[in-house]
Amino acid sequence: MLFDLDYVRNCLPEHEVIYLPSVDTTMRVAAEAAARGAPAGTIVVADEQTAGRGRLGRSWYSAPGVGLYFSILVWPKSAAEVFPALTLACGLAVHDAISTECKLEPDLRWPNDVLIRERKVAGVLTQLEDGLAIVGIGINVNHKSFPAELQGLATSLYLETGREWPREALLVRCVEQLKSYQKILEQSDKQEIFRLFEQRSSYAWGKRVVVEMPGKVIRGITEGLNSEGFLQLRSEDGVLHTVIAGGVRSE
Ligand code: BTN
Repeated sequence: MLFDLDYVRNCLPEHEVIYLPSVDTTMRVAAEAAARGAPAGTIVVADEQTAGRGRLGRSWYSAPGVGLYFSILVWPKSAAEVFPALTLACGLAVHDAISTECKLEPDLRWPNDVLIRERKVAGVLTQLEDGLAIVGIGINVNHKSFPAELQGLATSLYLETGREWPREALLVRCVEQLKSYQKILEQSDKQEIFRLFEQRSSYAWGKRVVVEMPGKVIRGITEGLNSEGFLQLRSEDGVLHTVIAGGVRSE
């Protein structure tokens, strides 16, 4: 289905929206827009990405016309100060958009994977550069199938509900929610973001997980977020670990 750009522009009149039918990655275009001095709130949305990027150097499957693929420029008060709260807030915004629009109850996996029945339905990539955050959001909306290597790992809103969903409404809702979380962060209320994350994530407490970090793998049971928003994990030998970055999965 054609992307209804007018709908998005009408709903988000204060945002500059750059639409591209096909692009390598919206992250590159957003970074270039930022370098040219594009205003905060600028959105780059594509119908297809030929080299979609995921977290941890992975790629993001971006088949044409079925997914929502966008990046948005965010200027946090101080990027270093709000990281990783900003990252968690982005996951919360996507979670809200999916639950409100589609009446589903997604789960959040630290830091910001959005899951349904343990399969990934959306992902967020945050790139911090000189006080600027480029937030990239990918939602599997109307995918009817996935390549073999993603089967069992990925799902779409279509596969979960048996009906198609308008990508435009999801985009608008994500941006609105992101803005409301940004307000919370601007009031320096990171703890509120952590509280909401813990509330919505089955991964935050008491989940048996494996974490792959650069150079090591840790297994243990999660014990919530620390005061900075990093995931805590107790391994069998009783040691409490703090996960700064890495891939978390259930065991
Ligand atoms: C993840 O690995 O979970 C993050 C996926 C982020 C994908 C989005 S799609 C729009 C933006 N452009 C990209 O190349 N990646 C992000």
